[in-house]
Amino acid sequence: MSIGYFNGEFIPVDKAVILIDERGHQFGDGVYEVIRVYNRKPFMLKEHIQRLLSSASSIKLNVNKSLEDIEDIITKAIENTDMFDFDIYFQMTRGIATRKHLFPDTPVSISMTVRPMKVMEDTVRKMGVNAIFHEDERWLNCHIKSLNLLPNILAKQTAHESGCYEAILIRNGFVTEGTSSNVYIIIDKKIYTTPLSKQILPGITRAAVKKIASLLQIDFIEKHITSTELLQADEVFITSTTNEILPIVNVDGTKINDGYSGELSLALYEKFKQFI
Ligand code: PDD
Repeated sequence: MSIGYFNGEFIPVDKAVILIDERGHQFGDGVYEVIRVYNRKPFMLKEHIQRLLSSASSIKLNVNKSLEDIEDIITKAIENTDMFDFDIYFQMTRGIATRKHLFPDTPVSISMTVRPMKVMEDTVRKMGVNAIFHEDERWLNCHIKSLNLLPNILAKQTAHESGCYEAILIRNGFVTEGTSSNVYIIIDKKIYTTPLSKQILPGITRAAVKKIASLLQIDFIEKHITSTELLQADEVFITSTTNEILPIVNVDGTKINDGYSGELSLALYEKFKQFI
């Protein structure tokens, strides 16, 4: 059963707890994480909490909680549910205070939802999904996992309205990432992906794929990719906590790998399952 959490209390997920003056609600003034729990074990939890604390520090959010404190809250959430496979969304905002831009003195708000995992059908992964290119209209601090997702939402909606699953974002002619995923191409059995910088989120799944590539002795090359290079690649795939490793078979109407999920992308996914 799904559960919610707000400032120290586990609550029904549909209970109204957010006050009008909550800054996450008013400004999107906060950061978040998405953590997947497989068989009651959180996947790469420390890495997620480290990224959360780093996002918080980048927006000068005075969290007053250590990695261990946050780990404890998440462990309690896991103990509070009888589900085996689920997704945790964990938000931290600059708290509740009468609306003004300047930072208030109020404590950080912490909220969380624990919901059944959105499982992707095996057939979908084997068929692959379609994507569009979309201008990257986001700010210049995309390494922060900020609650402000408006440009991501608008681009994803545009993809959806074109019958596609994801929008691949382009800044100055180069691929940055997806609206909620990192993007990779494969050429001659080598993996290429955008280097880490303030332009992309340092994906936790990306770190796992990098490790898997090294175990399989596959080159993992961090370099900027143009839209043309992507369209001409042997394979394209995206990664995220909720999509894991997902092949892209068509971008803006151009087929990748004749419109079939790439062999190496699927092999990486099989290895990823073992890694979990
Ligand atoms: N999104 N880039 C963006 C913009 C993302 O929102 C995400 C994740 C990723 C992949 O990161 P990770 O592998 O750590 O999940 C890259 C999550 C899943 C979400 O917001 O739902």
